[in-house]
Amino acid sequence: MNNDKLLVLDNVTKVFTKGQGFVKSKIEAVSRVSFELELQPPEIFTLAGESGSGKSTVAKLILGFEAPTSGSIYYKGQPLEHLKGKREFIRDVQPIFQNPFETFNPLKKVQNYFHDTERSFGSPPRGQYPLTERSLELVGLTAAEIKDKYPSEMSGGQLQRASIARALITNPSLLIADEPVSMIDASLRMSVVNLFKRLKEEQGVSIIYITHDLATAYYISDRIAIMLRGQFVEIGSVKKVLDNPLHPYSQLLQSSVPAPDPRDRWTEDIALSDLEAREYTRQGCKFAGRCPRVMEICQRQEPEHYRVDDRLVKCHLYR
Ligand SMILES: Nc1ncnc2c1ncn2[C@@H]1O[C@H](COP(=O)(O)OP(=O)(O)OP(=O)(O)O)[C@@H](O)[C@H]1O
Ligand SMILES: [Mg+2]
Repeated sequence: MNNDKLLVLDNVTKVFTKGQGFVKSKIEAVSRVSFELELQPPEIFTLAGESGSGKSTVAKLILGFEAPTSGSIYYKGQPLEHLKGKREFIRDVQPIFQNPFETFNPLKKVQNYFHDTERSFGSPPRGQYPLTERSLELVGLTAAEIKDKYPSEMSGGQLQRASIARALITNPSLLIADEPVSMIDASLRMSVVNLFKRLKEEQGVSIIYITHDLATAYYISDRIAIMLRGQFVEIGSVKKVLDNPLHPYSQLLQSSVPAPDPRDRWTEDIALSDLEAREYTRQGCKFAGRCPRVMEICQRQEPEHYRVDDRLVKCHLYR
């Protein structure tokens, strides 16, 4: 079953308990999410949505860092619970995090990460690291550029490319990149996203790309899923969804200027975290409280996914 799929998420839900004491509430940080990536051709699949919409939780579920409360995940035809923690899986599905300074300990030379990873996955000839050299080359770095350097001695852009190179040593089939460019200067951002595009096209790597930045998503991805309070509200080809968003929430996201500074996180707005709690626990459509096109039915009944113009839209307007 699912043997021609790289990844299958089937109705995946993750429930967290938030708050303390008497004000505890349960939220579905990921709510009945389903999507599939084919084995071939490789694909860049974007998850977009404002802060707290569940993007990183989806990433953690796929990496096996969190277990679903319900639903199933399959990787190359096998249930994820049989694979996680196993060498083959760790080698094949690699994470790339937002902050390269978190990937690399400030007190450890960058090259040591490469050499340790290479040693633990292969048996390099003494003093030689062919996989390190190859993966650095793929991201446009040379061994000389990282030689004897500590993380603080490299630029943010170089270090992020180094963290991508490190993920490539094991020749993975899938990268899970959670906001990989949000800490990088705008001028370097394109070089990293171009690298993702090249990795897909030339190395056949599929990528789950998580971002707030719809401009880079449009540029590199094949498909996009717009997330709102744990749910996929619109999913389809990136061109269709961003050229002509159908869900009122996708329309709002697409028209709002992305935060220029990643430190201006949308959650820092206190009103929004209130809003978050209200929307997560809301009956009916999660967007009903903010939707310019809200109807009476939206307040009481959760919409299904409707197939419209080659995509799925979770909105009563398309009944
Ligand atoms: N371990 C946890 N325990 C409790 N709640 C959690 C946990 N991890 C995430 N959450 C909650 O789940 C919701 C979704 O969080 P998640 O980090 O997946 O969002 P996100 O879309 O990645 O946001 P951002 O854009 O800020 O990174 C949030 O309300 C968050 O507070
Ligand atoms: Mg996140």
